[in-house]
Amino acid sequence: MKTQMPDHWPSTLGPVICVVGARPNFMKMAPILRAFAAHQPAIPTLLLHTGQHYDRDMNDKLFEDLRLPHPDINLEVGSGSHAVQTAEVMRRFEPVVDDKKPSCVLVVGDVNSTLACTLVAVKKGIPVVHVEAGLRSYDRAMPEEINRVLTDQVADRLYTTERSAADNLTREGIAAERIRFVGNVMIDSLLSNRSFARSPADCLQAAGVDPALIQGAQGFGIVTMHRPSNVDHADILASLLGVLREISESIPLVFALHPRTKSNIERFGLGNLIDQTKMIMLPPQGYLEMLGLMANARIVLTDSGGLQEETTALGVPCLTMRENTERPITVEQGTNTMVGRNLDSIRHHAAEILAGRGKSGRVPENWDGQTSQRIAADLATWLIERHNRN
Ligand code: UD1
Repeated sequence: MKTQMPDHWPSTLGPVICVVGARPNFMKMAPILRAFAAHQPAIPTLLLHTGQHYDRDMNDKLFEDLRLPHPDINLEVGSGSHAVQTAEVMRRFEPVVDDKKPSCVLVVGDVNSTLACTLVAVKKGIPVVHVEAGLRSYDRAMPEEINRVLTDQVADRLYTTERSAADNLTREGIAAERIRFVGNVMIDSLLSNRSFARSPADCLQAAGVDPALIQGAQGFGIVTMHRPSNVDHADILASLLGVLREISESIPLVFALHPRTKSNIERFGLGNLIDQTKMIMLPPQGYLEMLGLMANARIVLTDSGGLQEETTALGVPCLTMRENTERPITVEQGTNTMVGRNLDSIRHHAAEILAGRGKSGRVPENWDGQTSQRIAADLATWLIERHNRN
């Protein structure tokens, strides 16, 4: 029988604490908060920022671009080793849960903040809702993989972006009734912001770079890399910069540089590998800047998770410089090709794309801009039914 929705959220049912910590969380949470506010009845929320990312470039600028409200609570944990960062979030989150008595804690993605808040909530008997559940790279050397596996084990409601995620969860013994295939909230953000995207020329100008550098007939490519496995070892970082320099002979490459990558290039003395006129180094870009850059690029080279999905939605060919992906649908249906750190493979696939033989792909099921609404409808029903039962 279908649950009758009340006109107002029950006064005895607490708010949903919505957790963000790091840059890739922000574009996932923005449409969720809007859908919760628009739901009938409105789902009350508290936006909690752990403070894992705190720079203007990594944080404030994205909040503005995504029209995210100022967080209700900021734990201000900042940077640290994985243990310190995770422990600090846990320590500071516990009293918030005690004080606010949430109906559930909603976490997104796979960053340290996701796992830390999950552990605190579940041990206090507060249900955990995981958005973007079930993705697996099967590479336990990635900190994000550990965060995903552990979060999913204890989460009560798991929302997935692609159908393969449910198979991964089932293999780990997670009951099917906890899993809902809803689609991809990142694509909600992408579709609702696409018309506000900044022009690539504006992005360069804002960084004090001459836009003429990317206005030639051959167009331009985009590069992002920040995974420790790619940027924390001098020889690997040098070989990747070397092959990117070769590609930049054919097409100018615009880099949006993560602070970790920037500092490692300096620390390892690799600045000489960068040809400033063809390898254009920009600071981390805002959301609308990155959207404009990607949408207009001929090729994207990345090790990011999110960019694999965004390029698939935009139909832009993407080469992922990793040995594995937790987002296989972007390869099977989308524009993504895995090239690892294999320099020949990177060279070959980049040449294919520049010769007009890149993948055009198609947009996966339920990546339609309506995922947050599906989550709001399902979560409200689930919470109210539980509440009525107790
Ligand atoms: C985190 C996520 C990763 C995500 C990435 C996006 C984990 C395990 N990793 O990695 O999944 O793809 O965010 O950016 O949670 N720093 C700044 N300013 C900031 C934040 C960080 O300069 O605002 C620098 C600090 O030197 C810090 C380093 O970046 O030590 C790494 O930050 P951290 O949050 O630990 O991990 P990310 O590499 O950003």
